[in-house]
Amino acid sequence: MAEMGSPSLKITYKNAVLFSHLFMQNLICQGDTVLDATCGNGNDTLFLADLVGDTGKVYAFDIQLVAINNTKEKLLNNLVAERVKLIHDTHESIDYYIDDQLDGAMFNLGYLPNTDTDLITLPSSTLSAIQKTLILLKEGGLITIVFYTGHFGGLKELEVVEANLSSLDQNEWVVSHHKFINQINHPPQLITIQRIRR
Ligand SMILES: C[S@@+](CC[C@H](N)C(=O)[O-])C[C@H]1O[C@@H](n2cnc3c(N)ncnc32)[C@H](O)[C@@H]1O
Repeated sequence: MAEMGSPSLKITYKNAVLFSHLFMQNLICQGDTVLDATCGNGNDTLFLADLVGDTGKVYAFDIQLVAINNTKEKLLNNLVAERVKLIHDTHESIDYYIDDQLDGAMFNLGYLPNTDTDLITLPSSTLSAIQKTLILLKEGGLITIVFYTGHFGGLKELEVVEANLSSLDQNEWVVSHHKFINQINHPPQLITIQRIRR
């Protein structure tokens, strides 16, 4: 969901979330099966539900009931709830809930804005969920991971995940790290992973 800027600047990809949407928009098609690993307020889930259309499927996880409820309301308001399976559980358990292979997955890490910052993604469970998602990813499929390094533990989470992903075989995976280098105050960063061979 690109934001509108000034009249002469129709679309600006000015942060990691918008950038992750740009990648997904280019790869995800109607009928695809995708994962939102942290549905939060449902913005990414709605975005994915629009991309996969009424023949596609979205799995959306969150550990907080308020996030599941906020997402459900957003999906109902936009008449796309039937194509989304909402799961109130940790994304570490995706292998328990998902048998399908995935065309794409989004991880938007950190905590739910304006709520308890103790309920936050953590390096070990994030890494475990990403590793399980890699197993489910189709050839050509894409994972986007947005990191917030401005809060306690956020930089550690990025370092742990990046160190692990750096060792993925380059003949099978394209892994890239995107950061905004002229913004103040720890702007969010994006890692993308595409499977190029299965
Ligand atoms: C930055 S918010 C996600 C924003 C969301 N994608 C959106 O579009 O509104 C991060 C979310 O991760 C959730 N979360 C934290 N740990 C989790 C876990 N282990 N499994 C699933 N969700 C988790 C939090 O509850 C929070 O809602």
